Amino acid sequence: MSVASLGYIGFEVSDLQAWDAYMTGFLGLMPGRGEGPSAKYRMDERSFRIQVDEGQKDDLSFIGFEVATPEDLKALRDRLTAAGIDCSVASNQLAAERGVRDLAVLKDPSGLQVEIYVGATALTHVPFNSPAGVSGFRTGAQGVGHVVMAVDKIDEVRAFYTGLLGFRLSDTIGIAISPDFTLTLEFYHCNPRHHTLALVPMPAPRRMHHFMVEMATMDDVGYAMDRMAKYGVRQTMTLGKHTNDQMVSFYAATPSGFEVEVGTAGIAVQDDSWRVTHHEATSMWGHKHCN
Ligand SMILES: [Fe+2]
Repeated sequence: MSVASLGYIGFEVSDLQAWDAYMTGFLGLMPGRGEGPSAKYRMDERSFRIQVDEGQKDDLSFIGFEVATPEDLKALRDRLTAAGIDCSVASNQLAAERGVRDLAVLKDPSGLQVEIYVGATALTHVPFNSPAGVSGFRTGAQGVGHVVMAVDKIDEVRAFYTGLLGFRLSDTIGIAISPDFTLTLEFYHCNPRHHTLALVPMPAPRRMHHFMVEMATMDDVGYAMDRMAKYGVRQTMTLGKHTNDQMVSFYAATPSGFEVEVGTAGIAVQDDSWRVTHHEATSMWGHKHCN
């Protein structure tokens, strides 16, 4: 049993106003709904997929994993508790702020707040309507998108996400940093999205390298590239295609310094036929660093 998907993510940011323009104007997310003071943004029928709170971290502050049923939530809590992880049931107030039925809150071995929930609020009576005209985001069973995190305790973090939350390795990419050092990135899935989570085994000042949102069409990605000038967004990597998930995407800096990947057409992984592989480059073509 594994978590079903990355249901939502939260950022702590120092410039809420800049983030609001970035989320709605540049990325085309719709203002969301929820209790409490947090800014929330929709990508689909859910009341929110990304939450932004004011603070000084300018980093990822929590990730929320969805499970299918209350029984799955109980089974996961039992497994985590048996492994010695404090996995408390969240207060009614926090569950209400997240708009979920039941919620467990814990920390991964790197100290990141992980939330596991069931029963998200779906606003199917208020259709998703992108303020920027994005025709849609690929979410559903594949969740929000993916997060790529720098971690220093790779063995413990890997054991937590695979052994306890049920992630499966998709593949690895080796990046030759110097003649005698290759950095190996690890990509993990919990549903048909090629990777929901990628781990970069190196210490870094901030945890978040980038998060990825997948748009419905190549035109959506092209229009987003054109919007960078209008919103003063700095592109960090050119359009390119990744070797492993075959996502066609570009990268841009967020107002907090970490990056977003805006992509389309990523491949799907089917567990019964998937074979773990290794790649020697992150991209088939493109993805050149911008100055
Ligand atoms: Fe990515």
